[in-house]
Amino acid sequence: MILLDGNKTAAEIKNEIAQKVARIREEGKKSPGLVTILVGDNPASQVYVNKKNKTCAELGMISKTEKLDAGISEDELLKLVRYYNDAAEYHGILVQLPLPAHIDEDKVIEAINPAKDVDGFHPVSVGNLVIGKEAFLPCTPFGILELLKRYNIETKGKHVVVVGRSNIVGKPVANLLLQKKEGANAVVTVCHSAAPDLKKFTLSADILIAAIGRANYVTADMVKDGAVVIDVGINRVEDHSAAKGYRIVGDVDFENVAPKCSYITPVPGGVGAMTIAMLMQNTLSAYIKIEEKK
Ligand code: GUN
Repeated sequence: MILLDGNKTAAEIKNEIAQKVARIREEGKKSPGLVTILVGDNPASQVYVNKKNKTCAELGMISKTEKLDAGISEDELLKLVRYYNDAAEYHGILVQLPLPAHIDEDKVIEAINPAKDVDGFHPVSVGNLVIGKEAFLPCTPFGILELLKRYNIETKGKHVVVVGRSNIVGKPVANLLLQKKEGANAVVTVCHSAAPDLKKFTLSADILIAAIGRANYVTADMVKDGAVVIDVGINRVEDHSAAKGYRIVGDVDFENVAPKCSYITPVPGGVGAMTIAMLMQNTLSAYIKIEEKK
Protein backbone atom coordinates (compact mmCIF):
# COMPACT_ATOMS: atom_id res chain seq x y z
CA MET A 1 0.00 0.00 0.00
CA ILE A 2 1.32 3.40 -0.99
CA LEU A 3 0.15 6.61 0.68
CA LEU A 4 -0.78 9.39 -1.73
CA ASP A 5 1.02 12.22 -0.01
CA GLY A 6 -1.06 15.35 -0.65
CA ASN A 7 1.20 17.52 1.50
CA LYS A 8 4.31 16.63 -0.47
CA THR A 9 2.60 16.89 -3.87
CA ALA A 10 0.93 20.20 -2.96
CA ALA A 11 4.31 21.54 -1.81
CA GLU A 12 5.82 20.67 -5.22
CA ILE A 13 2.98 22.41 -7.05
CA LYS A 14 3.18 25.48 -4.80
CA ASN A 15 6.91 25.63 -5.38
CA GLU A 16 6.38 25.58 -9.15
CA ILE A 17 3.80 28.37 -8.85
CA ALA A 18 6.05 30.46 -6.58
CA GLN A 19 8.81 30.25 -9.19
CA LYS A 20 6.42 31.40 -11.94
CA VAL A 21 5.20 34.31 -9.77
CA ALA A 22 8.81 35.28 -9.03
CA ARG A 23 9.54 35.40 -12.78
CA ILE A 24 6.47 37.60 -13.34
CA ARG A 25 7.68 39.97 -10.61
CA GLU A 26 11.20 40.05 -12.09
CA GLU A 27 9.66 41.31 -15.32
CA GLY A 28 8.35 44.25 -13.31
CA LYS A 29 4.72 43.15 -13.57
CA LYS A 30 2.21 43.20 -10.72
CA SER A 31 1.44 40.10 -8.67
CA PRO A 32 -1.56 37.83 -9.14
CA GLY A 33 -4.29 38.76 -6.64
CA LEU A 34 -7.05 36.77 -4.96
CA VAL A 35 -9.96 38.20 -2.99
CA THR A 36 -11.93 35.93 -0.68
CA ILE A 37 -15.33 36.93 0.60
CA LEU A 38 -16.31 35.45 3.96
CA VAL A 39 -19.83 35.96 5.31
CA GLY A 40 -20.54 35.21 8.96
CA ASP A 41 -18.40 33.33 11.46
CA ASN A 42 -18.49 29.66 10.48
CA PRO A 43 -15.33 28.35 12.22
CA ALA A 44 -14.37 25.89 9.45
CA SER A 45 -14.76 28.62 6.81
CA GLN A 46 -12.51 30.93 8.84
CA VAL A 47 -9.83 28.24 8.99
CA TYR A 48 -10.02 27.67 5.22
CA VAL A 49 -9.89 31.38 4.38
CA ASN A 50 -6.90 31.96 6.68
CA LYS A 51 -5.08 29.09 4.97
CA LYS A 52 -5.82 30.53 1.54
CA ASN A 53 -4.41 33.94 2.54
CA LYS A 54 -1.32 32.40 4.12
CA THR A 55 -0.64 30.34 1.01
CA CYS A 56 -1.03 33.39 -1.26
CA ALA A 57 1.56 35.23 0.82
CA GLU A 58 3.98 32.26 0.65
CA LEU A 59 3.69 32.21 -3.14
CA GLY A 60 4.15 35.95 -3.63
CA MET A 61 0.53 36.60 -4.48
CA ILE A 62 -1.66 39.39 -3.18
CA SER A 63 -4.67 38.37 -1.12
CA LYS A 64 -7.44 40.13 0.70
CA THR A 65 -10.41 38.92 2.72
CA GLU A 66 -13.66 40.82 2.85
CA LYS A 67 -15.18 39.75 6.19
CA LEU A 68 -18.88 40.49 6.23
CA ASP A 69 -21.48 40.28 8.94
CA ALA A 70 -23.83 37.28 8.71
CA GLY A 71 -26.73 39.75 8.43
CA ILE A 72 -25.51 41.38 5.20
CA SER A 73 -28.23 41.59 2.55
CA GLU A 74 -28.02 39.65 -0.69
CA ASP A 75 -27.99 42.95 -2.62
CA GLU A 76 -25.00 44.28 -0.69
CA LEU A 77 -23.09 41.05 -1.26
CA LEU A 78 -23.90 41.11 -4.98
CA LYS A 79 -22.68 44.72 -5.15
CA LEU A 80 -19.39 43.74 -3.56
CA VAL A 81 -18.89 40.83 -5.97
CA ARG A 82 -19.55 43.19 -8.91
CA TYR A 83 -17.02 45.65 -7.52
CA TYR A 84 -14.33 42.95 -7.56
CA ASN A 85 -15.40 41.80 -11.03
CA ASP A 86 -13.87 45.06 -12.29
CA ALA A 87 -11.06 45.55 -9.73
CA ALA A 88 -7.80 45.31 -11.72
CA GLU A 89 -5.61 44.16 -8.81
CA TYR A 90 -7.64 40.99 -8.18
CA HIS A 91 -7.67 38.17 -10.74
CA GLY A 92 -9.57 35.62 -8.69
CA ILE A 93 -12.75 35.98 -6.65
CA LEU A 94 -13.74 33.32 -4.14
CA VAL A 95 -16.94 33.51 -2.13
CA GLN A 96 -16.53 31.06 0.74
CA LEU A 97 -19.48 28.66 1.06
CA PRO A 98 -21.81 28.01 2.77
CA LEU A 99 -23.58 31.38 2.83
CA PRO A 100 -26.28 32.26 5.38
CA ALA A 101 -29.72 30.86 4.55
CA HIS A 102 -31.24 34.22 3.51
CA ILE A 103 -28.75 34.54 0.64
CA ASP A 104 -29.21 32.68 -2.63
CA GLU A 105 -25.85 30.99 -3.26
CA ASP A 106 -26.57 30.37 -6.94
CA LYS A 107 -27.30 34.04 -7.51
CA VAL A 108 -24.01 35.05 -5.87
CA ILE A 109 -21.96 32.50 -7.83
CA GLU A 110 -23.62 33.62 -11.08
CA ALA A 111 -22.66 37.23 -10.32
CA ILE A 112 -18.92 36.38 -10.38
CA ASN A 113 -17.08 37.35 -13.57
CA PRO A 114 -16.40 33.94 -15.21
CA ALA A 115 -12.86 35.15 -16.04
CA LYS A 116 -12.21 35.38 -12.26
CA ASP A 117 -14.08 32.21 -11.25
CA VAL A 118 -11.14 30.46 -9.57
CA ASP A 119 -13.50 28.13 -7.68
CA GLY A 120 -14.92 26.85 -10.97
CA PHE A 121 -18.47 27.05 -9.62
CA HIS A 122 -19.96 29.48 -12.19
CA PRO A 123 -22.35 27.82 -14.69
CA VAL A 124 -20.04 28.93 -17.53
CA SER A 125 -17.12 27.05 -15.91
CA VAL A 126 -19.29 24.01 -15.18
CA GLY A 127 -20.60 23.94 -18.75
CA ASN A 128 -17.14 24.22 -20.28
CA LEU A 129 -15.87 21.43 -18.03
CA VAL A 130 -18.72 19.11 -19.04
CA ILE A 131 -18.24 19.64 -22.79
CA GLY A 132 -14.47 19.25 -22.47
CA LYS A 133 -13.48 22.86 -23.22
CA GLU A 134 -10.81 24.76 -21.30
CA ALA A 135 -12.30 25.81 -17.96
CA PHE A 136 -11.49 26.72 -14.40
CA LEU A 137 -11.72 23.36 -12.67
CA PRO A 138 -13.15 23.23 -9.13
CA CYS A 139 -10.14 22.95 -6.85
CA THR A 140 -10.82 19.63 -5.09
CA PRO A 141 -11.59 17.64 -8.28
CA PHE A 142 -8.62 19.35 -9.98
CA GLY A 143 -6.45 18.29 -7.01
CA ILE A 144 -7.64 14.69 -7.25
CA LEU A 145 -6.72 14.49 -10.96
CA GLU A 146 -3.36 16.09 -10.32
CA LEU A 147 -2.59 13.67 -7.48
CA LEU A 148 -3.43 10.66 -9.70
CA LYS A 149 -1.31 12.13 -12.51
CA ARG A 150 1.74 12.83 -10.35
CA TYR A 151 1.67 9.27 -8.94
CA ASN A 152 1.33 7.88 -12.51
CA ILE A 153 -1.94 6.13 -11.67
CA GLU A 154 -3.63 5.01 -14.89
CA THR A 155 -7.24 6.16 -15.28
CA LYS A 156 -7.88 5.18 -18.91
CA GLY A 157 -10.42 2.36 -19.05
CA LYS A 158 -10.49 2.02 -15.28
CA HIS A 159 -13.75 1.82 -13.38
CA VAL A 160 -14.01 4.90 -11.18
CA VAL A 161 -16.82 4.87 -8.63
CA VAL A 162 -17.65 8.24 -7.12
CA VAL A 163 -19.73 8.22 -3.95
CA GLY A 164 -21.38 11.62 -3.56
CA ARG A 165 -23.01 13.99 -6.04
CA SER A 166 -22.27 17.47 -4.74
CA ASN A 167 -21.65 20.34 -7.14
CA ILE A 168 -18.28 20.95 -5.45
CA VAL A 169 -16.82 17.43 -5.69
CA GLY A 170 -18.97 14.48 -6.85
CA LYS A 171 -20.45 15.85 -10.06
CA PRO A 172 -17.36 17.69 -11.34
CA VAL A 173 -14.87 14.89 -10.55
CA ALA A 174 -17.11 12.37 -12.32
CA ASN A 175 -17.38 14.64 -15.37
CA LEU A 176 -13.64 15.31 -15.45
CA LEU A 177 -12.68 11.63 -15.31
CA LEU A 178 -15.17 10.87 -18.07
CA GLN A 179 -13.49 13.20 -20.61
CA LYS A 180 -11.71 11.61 -23.55
CA LYS A 181 -8.40 13.10 -22.46
CA GLU A 182 -5.02 12.24 -21.00
CA GLY A 183 -5.39 11.66 -17.24
CA ALA A 184 -9.08 10.79 -17.62
CA ASN A 185 -10.94 8.52 -20.10
CA ALA A 186 -12.31 6.38 -17.26
CA VAL A 187 -15.56 4.44 -17.01
CA VAL A 188 -17.39 6.37 -14.32
CA THR A 189 -20.22 5.40 -11.99
CA VAL A 190 -21.74 7.96 -9.64
CA CYS A 191 -23.45 6.65 -6.48
CA HIS A 192 -25.26 8.49 -3.74
CA SER A 193 -27.45 8.13 -0.69
CA ALA A 194 -30.42 6.79 -2.66
CA ALA A 195 -28.50 3.69 -3.82
CA PRO A 196 -30.19 0.68 -2.19
CA ASP A 197 -26.95 -1.35 -2.11
CA LEU A 198 -23.90 0.89 -2.29
CA LYS A 199 -21.48 -2.00 -1.78
CA LYS A 200 -22.62 -3.62 -5.03
CA PHE A 201 -21.11 -0.63 -6.87
CA THR A 202 -18.10 0.20 -4.71
CA LEU A 203 -16.78 -3.38 -4.79
CA SER A 204 -16.23 -3.09 -8.55
CA ALA A 205 -14.22 0.15 -8.30
CA ASP A 206 -10.62 0.22 -9.50
CA ILE A 207 -10.57 3.79 -8.20
CA LEU A 208 -12.99 4.68 -5.42
CA ILE A 209 -13.63 8.35 -4.65
CA ALA A 210 -15.43 8.94 -1.35
CA ALA A 211 -17.08 12.36 -1.13
CA ILE A 212 -20.04 11.67 1.12
CA GLY A 213 -19.35 13.88 4.12
CA ARG A 214 -19.83 11.16 6.75
CA ALA A 215 -17.06 9.97 9.04
CA ASN A 216 -15.67 6.47 8.35
CA TYR A 217 -18.57 5.64 6.01
CA VAL A 218 -16.57 3.47 3.58
CA THR A 219 -15.66 0.24 5.35
CA ALA A 220 -13.24 -2.53 4.31
CA ASP A 221 -16.02 -4.86 3.07
CA MET A 222 -16.93 -2.21 0.45
CA VAL A 223 -13.48 -2.06 -1.17
CA LYS A 224 -11.92 -4.39 -3.75
CA ASP A 225 -8.41 -5.73 -3.08
CA GLY A 226 -5.83 -3.53 -4.81
CA ALA A 227 -8.16 -0.57 -5.31
CA VAL A 228 -7.02 3.06 -5.33
CA VAL A 229 -8.98 4.95 -2.65
CA ILE A 230 -9.34 8.72 -2.69
CA ASP A 231 -10.88 10.09 0.53
CA VAL A 232 -12.33 13.58 0.14
CA GLY A 233 -13.99 13.68 3.57
CA ILE A 234 -13.06 16.22 6.24
CA ASN A 235 -15.17 15.36 9.29
CA ARG A 236 -14.74 16.56 12.86
CA VAL A 237 -15.25 13.79 15.42
CA GLU A 238 -15.21 14.31 19.16
CA ASP A 239 -11.91 13.34 20.78
CA HIS A 240 -11.34 14.35 24.36
CA SER A 241 -7.70 13.28 24.19
CA ALA A 242 -7.05 15.93 21.50
CA ALA A 243 -6.20 19.49 22.56
CA LYS A 244 -9.10 20.94 20.53
CA GLY A 245 -11.57 18.32 21.75
CA TYR A 246 -11.96 16.91 18.24
CA ARG A 247 -9.93 15.35 15.46
CA ILE A 248 -10.35 15.25 11.70
CA VAL A 249 -11.23 11.99 9.96
CA GLY A 250 -12.19 11.17 6.38
CA ASP A 251 -15.15 9.38 4.84
CA VAL A 252 -13.10 6.16 4.74
CA ASP A 253 -12.37 3.86 7.68
CA PHE A 254 -8.66 4.30 6.98
CA GLU A 255 -7.28 1.82 9.48
CA ASN A 256 -9.19 -1.14 8.05
CA VAL A 257 -9.39 -0.06 4.40
CA ALA A 258 -5.73 0.93 3.87
CA PRO A 259 -4.30 -2.63 4.05
CA LYS A 260 -6.48 -3.64 1.06
CA CYS A 261 -5.46 -0.74 -1.19
CA SER A 262 -2.76 -0.24 -3.79
CA TYR A 263 -2.88 3.50 -3.04
CA ILE A 264 -4.87 5.55 -0.52
CA THR A 265 -5.01 9.19 0.56
CA PRO A 266 -4.65 9.92 4.28
CA VAL A 267 -6.86 12.45 6.10
CA PRO A 268 -5.48 14.96 6.85
CA GLY A 269 -2.61 15.29 4.40
CA GLY A 270 -4.32 13.90 1.31
CA VAL A 271 -6.83 15.62 -0.93
CA GLY A 272 -7.35 18.62 1.38
CA ALA A 273 -3.78 19.78 0.95
CA MET A 274 -4.17 19.64 -2.83
CA THR A 275 -7.28 21.83 -2.87
CA ILE A 276 -5.46 25.01 -1.87
CA ALA A 277 -2.57 24.34 -4.25
CA MET A 278 -5.03 24.10 -7.14
CA LEU A 279 -6.73 27.33 -6.05
CA MET A 280 -3.33 28.99 -6.37
CA GLN A 281 -2.92 27.39 -9.81
CA ASN A 282 -6.33 28.72 -10.89
CA THR A 283 -5.48 32.20 -9.61
CA LEU A 284 -2.23 32.19 -11.58
CA SER A 285 -4.10 30.97 -14.70
CA ALA A 286 -6.71 33.74 -14.28
CA TYR A 287 -3.91 36.30 -13.93
CA ILE A 288 -2.13 35.12 -17.07
CA LYS A 289 -5.33 35.21 -19.15
CA ILE A 290 -6.51 38.58 -17.86
CA GLU A 291 -3.12 40.29 -18.09
CA GLU A 292 -2.35 38.82 -21.55
CA LYS A 293 -5.52 40.37 -22.92
CA LYS A 294 -4.47 43.88 -21.86
N1 GUN B 1 -16.64 25.55 1.09
C1 GUN B 1 -16.18 24.29 1.16
N2 GUN B 1 -15.36 24.06 0.11
C2 GUN B 1 -15.32 25.18 -0.61
C3 GUN B 1 -14.63 25.56 -1.79
O1 GUN B 1 -13.89 24.79 -2.42
N3 GUN B 1 -14.82 26.82 -2.21
C4 GUN B 1 -15.64 27.68 -1.56
N4 GUN B 1 -15.79 28.90 -2.07
N5 GUN B 1 -16.29 27.37 -0.47
C5 GUN B 1 -16.12 26.13 0.01
